[in-house]
Amino acid sequence: MIYIKNKSEIEKMRKAGKFAAELLVYLEPFVKSGVSTLELNDIAEAYTKKNGHRSAPLGYKGFPKSICTSINQVVCHGIPKKEDVLADGDIVNLDVSPIVDGYIGDTSKTFIVGGKTTPEAEKLVFDTEKAMWIGIEQIKPGNRIDDIGNAIDDFLTPLGYGIVRDLMGHGVGRNFHEEPQVPHFRSPRKLAKIEPGMIFTVEPMVNLGTWEVNFDRSDKWTVRTKDGKLSAQFEHTILVTDKGYEILTKV
Ligand code: MF3
Ligand code: CO
Ligand code: CO
Repeated sequence: MIYIKNKSEIEKMRKAGKFAAELLVYLEPFVKSGVSTLELNDIAEAYTKKNGHRSAPLGYKGFPKSICTSINQVVCHGIPKKEDVLADGDIVNLDVSPIVDGYIGDTSKTFIVGGKTTPEAEKLVFDTEKAMWIGIEQIKPGNRIDDIGNAIDDFLTPLGYGIVRDLMGHGVGRNFHEEPQVPHFRSPRKLAKIEPGMIFTVEPMVNLGTWEVNFDRSDKWTVRTKDGKLSAQFEHTILVTDKGYEILTKV
C-alpha cells in the first residue's frame, strides 16, 4: 500500500527534508582530501544531535553508522571507517537520512574530492545528476511510477552507462523505506499511478561499466560494481503535488 500523506504529515516531511538538505550543505566543506569517512560520519552525527534530531541509518537493520559514504566503485551503503581516507580525484557519495519529529528526509550527492577528477568520472557525476532530474520531471498526477525509470533509461543507456537494478528509489515518511519502489531503469510492466500526497525518492545509481553489483559478504552492507568501475548517485525526496512535484530536500 502506498501511503498518501495528509497536511500535517506533509508539513513534517517538509521539515525533515529541509534539515536533510541543510545537513548535506553543512558537510560539503569537510569533504576534502585527508578526511576519513568516519570523521564525516561523526561530523554529521554531531550536527544532527545538536539540532535535536536522530540519524535513521544508525541501527537500521543493523547498519552501524549514521550516514552512508560510498567512494569510487562503491555504489551505495558504504560504511564510514577511519581507514577510508579521501584523496583528490575520488568521487564520494554522502547519503544522509535524519529523523525530524518522527519523519525521515533522505538525500544524497556525489562530491568530486578536490574539485577535479578524470574527464570520464566528471561526466559520470554530471550525467548522474542530470538523470535524477530527468526522472523527477516525470513526477505529476496522471503519470505512473515507471515513467520515471523509463525516462532515465532513455537518457543513460544510449550513453553506455549501467543503471543499477538491485536498489531503487522508495516511499519515505515515518518509515525509512516503504512503497512504492521506484526503478531507475526501463520497466517491463506498468507500475502504480502517481497521486498527490505520495512522497518518494528518486536516487539513480549509475555505473561507468556494467549495471551488475556485488554485496559485501562480510560487512553485509557495502555494494560495489561487479567490474570495479566507478559509480555515482544523487538523491532527492519528492512530494507529489496537484500539478507536479515539490523537492523536499532542497535548501
Ligand atoms: N539512505 C539510503 C537510501 O537512500 C538507505 C541507507 S540504509 C542504511 O535508501 F542502513 F544503509 F543506512
Ligand atoms: Co533513499
Ligand atoms: Co538515501
